[in-house]
Amino acid sequence: MHSTITLLPGDGIGPEVVGCATEVLAAIAQRFGHSFDFHEALIGGAAIDATGDPLPDATLRACRESDAILLGAVGGPKWSDPNASVRPEQGLLKLRRELGLYANLRPVTVHPQLAELAPVKSDRLVGVDLLVVRELTGGIYFGEKRREGDVAVDVCSYSVAEVERVVRLAARLAGARKGRLTQVDKANVLETSRLWRQVTTRVVETEFPELQLEHQLVDSMAMHLIAKPAAYDVIVTENLFGDILTDEAGLLAGSLGLLPSASLGDGGPGVYEPIHGSAPDIAGQDKANPIGTILSAAMLLRWSLKLDAEARAIEAAVTAVLDAGLRTPDIAGDGPSVGTRAMTTAVLAEI
Ligand code: NAD
Ligand code: IPM
Ligand code: MN
Repeated sequence: MHSTITLLPGDGIGPEVVGCATEVLAAIAQRFGHSFDFHEALIGGAAIDATGDPLPDATLRACRESDAILLGAVGGPKWSDPNASVRPEQGLLKLRRELGLYANLRPVTVHPQLAELAPVKSDRLVGVDLLVVRELTGGIYFGEKRREGDVAVDVCSYSVAEVERVVRLAARLAGARKGRLTQVDKANVLETSRLWRQVTTRVVETEFPELQLEHQLVDSMAMHLIAKPAAYDVIVTENLFGDILTDEAGLLAGSLGLLPSASLGDGGPGVYEPIHGSAPDIAGQDKANPIGTILSAAMLLRWSLKLDAEARAIEAAVTAVLDAGLRTPDIAGDGPSVGTRAMTTAVLAEI
């Protein structure tokens, strides 16, 4: 199979981890007889520095013309002045919006050998296998923003159609898993949340009656996620809540650096990226965990290129290196650790 993949390394550790995952994809192409064309383009702070624009037209065009997009991370202290007129993060948000990527799939599993490491009692982590479906192109992220003197305003709005499409996708995924769907909101306070609750109830009752649907308020969900994470299957929620809950879920896996994601719309290329950020504190030091990005490359193969066996080969290689005891510093605890490069070399050797 011949495919074109746009690489958006971005800032901080982004270029390091995207470089690793690209090598893994190249190894998969070789082993399975595919040809992947990789094209690198600018996004985020790197794009601001080069062009003044966090998502240059040339980048958006390259993304639209490719089969899938692999992204590192954007942002960093250099571009974080609250008075700045343009920000790296705007490039990522525009990319998601322009490509219509309304559903962000963030699977969370716990490698048994890493359970000891999580700051959660390891017996609670047995059987954790959850999938957070985060709405990605609506809500407070994309509402009107303004300043009026001493007052700042961010508008949060959702339409019925925006909720329906992401809930349908989450429900379909739940149907193919354990059949449990948990919808998370703040319906005791927010009007948008009451809309989410009504729409979700209707969609599930009429189109997916076989599912077990549960509603949870986001504040108590933050607690349940730590107290009984194995009780959940698919969690669907709005943009901001999904962002926050999945960084929290990173604790279950042992590190934020382990979690991948897929951002999907109705057709067109998807964006695949780890859930972590640019980690400026460790950038350029060969300390970043590349596994979140490598597993994002596996999701790219599965969801955009429909290469399931190839995706499983990457996942099996990652499992094997973790089984063998290789640990980047974020998952090493008090034990010995290896660098970003050595971890990647080990994954490549497995493939
Ligand atoms: P972060 O995710 O970059 O880092 C949080 C902590 O986790 C840091 O201590 C970091 O060292 C660690 N960490 C993150 N990824 C790691 C990895 N792969 N291996 C080992 N350790 C890892 O979050 P932050 O510090 O709040 O944000 C830094 C910048 O990243 C901000 O500008 C933010 O906007 C941006 N950001 C971008 C994305 C994205 O591009 N998708 C996501 C989140 C944050
Ligand atoms: C993420 C990040 C982004 C988000 C930022 C960088 C805009 O935190 O991908 O999780 O909030 O969506
Ligand atoms: Mn985030």
